[in-house]
Amino acid sequence: MKIYVINGPNLNFLGIREPNIYGNNSYEDLCRYINSEAKKLNVEIEIFQSNIEGEVVDFIQKAYENSDGIVINAGAYTHYSIAIFDAIKSINLPTVEVHLSNIYNREEFRHKSVIAPACIGQISGFGFLGYKLAIEALLNYNGN
Ligand code: DQA
Repeated sequence: MKIYVINGPNLNFLGIREPNIYGNNSYEDLCRYINSEAKKLNVEIEIFQSNIEGEVVDFIQKAYENSDGIVINAGAYTHYSIAIFDAIKSINLPTVEVHLSNIYNREEFRHKSVIAPACIGQISGFGFLGYKLAIEALLNYNGN
């Protein structure tokens, strides 16, 4: 099982950006956490981050022939990127949407995810743990 973990804009600024919302841990800490949890779960992962929408689309397309599932935190693109929605629909791989914060107890513009209908499920509000839960969800997913 090979899973691509994709992080969108500003997630590279974890630890710097709004620590009251996203915590004090850095993006490197997040990558370390994901790598160590994936190892325990015996899953091969590749982590990618970009602040550029087209690069996120390119990496989703790369998953088509190189991965069995995707974990994606699309950052702000979650709320308006039809290109990312279309990319996820195009590759037809199980995809889990993750958010560190609970997008439903924040500003109203964050309540809508345009990528959610392309995903098998969404995990929001559990910080780093959400990525581990998302990997477990993919491991347990049987197509239904
Ligand atoms: C986020 C929530 C988004 O609304 C925001 O734009 C982000 C991070 C999260 O992980 O909680 O960049 O996806």
